[in-house]
Amino acid sequence: MSAIEMIQSLPRTYGNTFPPSRQQGHQPIQDGHITITPILHDEQSSFGAQIDGIDWSRPLPTEDVAKLMAIQDKYGVLIFRKTGLDDDRHIGFARQLGEELEVNPFFYGIENDRIGNPLLWDVSNINLDGTIVQPHQRRWEHSLGNALWHTDSSFHQQRSKYSLLLSHGNPSKGGSWTHFADTTRAYSELPQSKKDELEDLIIEHDLWHSRRLASPQAFAQPLDNERAAERSAYHRLVQVGPDGRKTLYLAAHAKLVLGRSFEESQKLIWDLIDHCTQPKYVFSVEWLDGGDMVWWDNRKSMHRANPYNINMTARDVRRATVIDNGPLAFGPNKPVD
Ligand SMILES: [Fe+2]
Repeated sequence: MSAIEMIQSLPRTYGNTFPPSRQQGHQPIQDGHITITPILHDEQSSFGAQIDGIDWSRPLPTEDVAKLMAIQDKYGVLIFRKTGLDDDRHIGFARQLGEELEVNPFFYGIENDRIGNPLLWDVSNINLDGTIVQPHQRRWEHSLGNALWHTDSSFHQQRSKYSLLLSHGNPSKGGSWTHFADTTRAYSELPQSKKDELEDLIIEHDLWHSRRLASPQAFAQPLDNERAAERSAYHRLVQVGPDGRKTLYLAAHAKLVLGRSFEESQKLIWDLIDHCTQPKYVFSVEWLDGGDMVWWDNRKSMHRANPYNINMTARDVRRATVIDNGPLAFGPNKPVD
């Protein structure tokens, strides 16, 4: 089977997933003026929490930032409701979390971008003229890849650590959800023999691989400017997360396991993604109001969006992304053949 035939045979599209009812958090924990409501939580592990008690009307004091980063290291995904943040304060908060923000490589100038700031990704379904993105537009095809389980920017040699996704305006009709998977807990529950097999593996990540999986025709060949903007990167599969626990660094962008064939690589990668995204490791966030923000750690989680559908109304969400400047930020260099 050729590589392209194999890609086309993979059932890598997901329908819209709407959890049957709003997931209830665990008992809130009070930490000074901050209230933490854990989502997936037991003696072994915690993943996801709603955070209340932050005053978003001004830049956060450094002690709040330090406290939130410690909470983030434990929970991996933090949800804030009705922050009231605008673009500038969204970027301002992101800057408090790291030295450098990612610049959107697909930013082609203020006149061509609805948001007009290269530090924000427009991941909405809204065109420049205010109309809703329709099937067969390049943006529609591109968005299909975001409905596959992934972690942001693993296709960069220097990866990113945090993503901060902020909702503007009204929620979209029919509900809007983002789904998160705990790759740290999923790793911890693998059999030791599997952990041993995975320990030293290096993965090639390529944005165009995930685009091709979700939309094989549109991305059979990425456009020249697309390929120029994003190339492959290499990262270790097993990483140590910010809490010191081992985790899987994995995404639909993962194309090859170095030293294995494409078919063997994809089998291993998707077996692991399926393992990590079992319901016991997953929760979903519903976007309820403008100003809602989710801040997640790409180093220890995966996420996916619901795919676009032709009935959806405007979903205006914008992302700031904080570059990892820690000791594990860079993957190994491309090996010499
Ligand atoms: Fe994403």
